[in-house]
Amino acid sequence: MPVEIQLTKESLIEQRLLESVKRRLNKALRILKLPHRKVSVVFMTDEEITQFNLRFLGRNYPTNVISFPFRREKFTKYLGEVLVSIDRVKDEAEKYGLEFKNYLLMILIHGILHLLDHDHEKGVYAPYLMLKNELKLFKEIAYRKRKRECEKFLKRREYMPAKLAVNVDHVATVREARKAPYPDPVHAAVLAELGGADGIVVHLRLDRRHIKERDVKIIKGIIKTKLILEMAVDEDLIKFARELKPYQVTLVPERIEEVTTEGGMNLEVCLDEVSKAVKELNQAGIKVSLFINPEEKAVELSKKAGAQIVEIHTGIYAETTKEEDKERELERIEVAARIARDLDLIVHAGHGLSYENIQPVAAIPEIEEFSIGHSIVSRAIFVGMKEAVKEMKELILKSRGY
Ligand code: PXP
Repeated sequence: MPVEIQLTKESLIEQRLLESVKRRLNKALRILKLPHRKVSVVFMTDEEITQFNLRFLGRNYPTNVISFPFRREKFTKYLGEVLVSIDRVKDEAEKYGLEFKNYLLMILIHGILHLLDHDHEKGVYAPYLMLKNELKLFKEIAYRKRKRECEKFLKRREYMPAKLAVNVDHVATVREARKAPYPDPVHAAVLAELGGADGIVVHLRLDRRHIKERDVKIIKGIIKTKLILEMAVDEDLIKFARELKPYQVTLVPERIEEVTTEGGMNLEVCLDEVSKAVKELNQAGIKVSLFINPEEKAVELSKKAGAQIVEIHTGIYAETTKEEDKERELERIEVAARIARDLDLIVHAGHGLSYENIQPVAAIPEIEEFSIGHSIVSRAIFVGMKEAVKEMKELILKSRGY
């Protein structure tokens, strides 16, 4: 058998459970396409694992799991050894309100991925990749009883690298000021990508005051990342989007006389209309995001409308100047992000974000992506688009500790 489990004390775990855990871990090795390799697992007590922590890792306390990879050693078929404290796993399962057997599997998967050099403590993408693999394996080998709770718990361990989607509307605003053929938002989109943008956003407004259909079509054809089309709930625009198939549509409320989008959607008033639009766009393979205010009700209604993503409106946070108001607004954003993530919604945020105010918002771990336009285009006038995007991306990553 590829997976061997030893116990330092017979009483640590029942024989039947041990056999079933072994079978499930063997399945995990098959999924990893490594059925020919071996893994040694040792179940022990808190006291015993503390000794290993002290001797090899310089810490005098128990941890749930320690992995010792042998993978690079040519002489052995073993991927390595995984030590698990059953005391710790029991205590933690109780503390987190999770089912013991499934929590034990989660810990073992975590340990095995460490044997394969996965690391959740370094870099931007490595933690994300590790979590993705943990979830994939757990879904395949978990016990059915209370499985969903463990999946949710895993997902909460946020390792998402924060992304930056750059809105190029205001390059078109300058163009339209003279009705000239330049500056071209298409060029800006390409340069933004070169600066590290993870996506390009354009708002095709009902009055076509800046971005035109032509811009959206060429940008869609030319960029290497994803196109995010912002628009109002409008029959003709939905038809346009269904034909063009951007990666994502962000639905926003729109008023002709507004200078820019003034707030989130009022879903209490237009839930049916929005749900219908979400369905039509989803049927064309387009993900839908709803631009909402940082309110619990708005998050819940977004879920009800069938959206995959919510973009939390950060405009009020950006505009308020009084320190305590800013703090309060930041907390509203944080809470809304937490509720949304808990409902399995992907969380984005945007509006009014600048080089001066991005960092506190970017530290909110549930937010996966920021949609930023005006401040980046403004800075690009002086330092160039590529540099302006690069600087913003660095600030975002810095506030996540990278
Ligand atoms: N998100 C949404 C939904 C928006 O409407 C806008 C403005 O077009 C933005 C983000 C970007 O806002 P700003 O230009 O202030 O960065």
